Amino acid sequence: MTVLVTGAAGFIGFHTSLALLARGETVVGIDNVNDYYDVSLKRARLARLGEHGGFSCHEIDIADREAVFALFAAHPDIRGIVHLAAQAGVRYSLINPYAYTHSNVEGHLVLLEAARKLEGLKHFVYASSSSVYGTNTKLPFSIDDRVDTPISIYAATKKSMEMISHAYSHLYGLPLTGLRFFTVYGPWGRPDMAAFLFARKILAGEAIPVFNQGDMRRDFTYIDDIVAGVIGCLDHPPADGGPKARVYNIGNNRSERLMDYIAEIEKALGRKATIDFQPMQPGDVKETYADIAATTRDFGFVPRTPIGEGVPRFVDWYCDHYGVKR
Ligand SMILES: NC(=O)c1ccc[n+]([C@@H]2O[C@H](COP(=O)([O-])OP(=O)(O)OC[C@H]3O[C@@H](n4cnc5c(N)ncnc54)[C@H](O)[C@@H]3O)[C@@H](O)[C@H]2O)c1
Repeated sequence: MTVLVTGAAGFIGFHTSLALLARGETVVGIDNVNDYYDVSLKRARLARLGEHGGFSCHEIDIADREAVFALFAAHPDIRGIVHLAAQAGVRYSLINPYAYTHSNVEGHLVLLEAARKLEGLKHFVYASSSSVYGTNTKLPFSIDDRVDTPISIYAATKKSMEMISHAYSHLYGLPLTGLRFFTVYGPWGRPDMAAFLFARKILAGEAIPVFNQGDMRRDFTYIDDIVAGVIGCLDHPPADGGPKARVYNIGNNRSERLMDYIAEIEKALGRKATIDFQPMQPGDVKETYADIAATTRDFGFVPRTPIGEGVPRFVDWYCDHYGVKR
């Protein structure tokens, strides 16, 4: 089967593409390889993917209608879509909010317009985010909870994607599933996220900024578990007669103290961090925790990687990739 993966040069897109290729799918990748973070990391991921015969990458912007429509016209065999391209990151959405409406709202709309004209599409899976839970205080976060109170533009655009998807499934019968990812980490991870940022600073002997005086909790989800969830979801499109637009949580189903996560990074690196405690950042939430009951029920999703296993795997990759001697 041919699967379109957007954001293929990104962290989750890279791993998802690898897993799809490993089971024999043809992957048509899209990524504009933008410079939100180190482009050489994206290029290195694409180089790995390029070693597989079934992979092609198209360097286009998902908000570029003509380019996206032309790509779909050239690939009428696409049966699955995993849409992961987005402007990610809560903090950057305070600096450049337009990047978020461009990629996350306009880009998503263009893909839906292209997808609805595709004959034979079985399932369109897209990335939402735990950030849609905003100021909710009831834990764990459940897909049945209201999510009308986003506190960042990033979260607002992810919630917009869910609403636009609902309209498209209603209007055109498109099978659309949104996955709310909870803090994903692992090898080939994103340089703007905690594990990467902290490892780099600890190794450089710099202090690591820790917000809300360290009183933060996150449902940290290891990349292999996320990929299993994404592909499990792709393989289970909405059933006939049921709702065509669905949303699920994909998390580790454990809320960990940020300070424990940092301790795992320190242990794996064999170095102590200097901590620069700072106040809560605008747009950030204090705690995330995923209720995954529906995800387990419908896709057989079971997260298997505690931070005590996942963090050392990340650190091993980091040291290997950047030639760090421990
Ligand atoms: N990593 C996490 O913890 C996390 C948590 C919640 C949600 N998500 C969501 O999961 C998805 C993947 O995240 P990631 O961590 O792999 O991020 P990433 O930034 O590594 O990957 C996104 C990729 O999309 C590409 N891209 C961005 N805008 C584009 C555009 N307009 N056209 C074409 N390509 C574009 C980027 O170049 C990048 O390679 C995103 O939708 C993100 O919002 C991630």
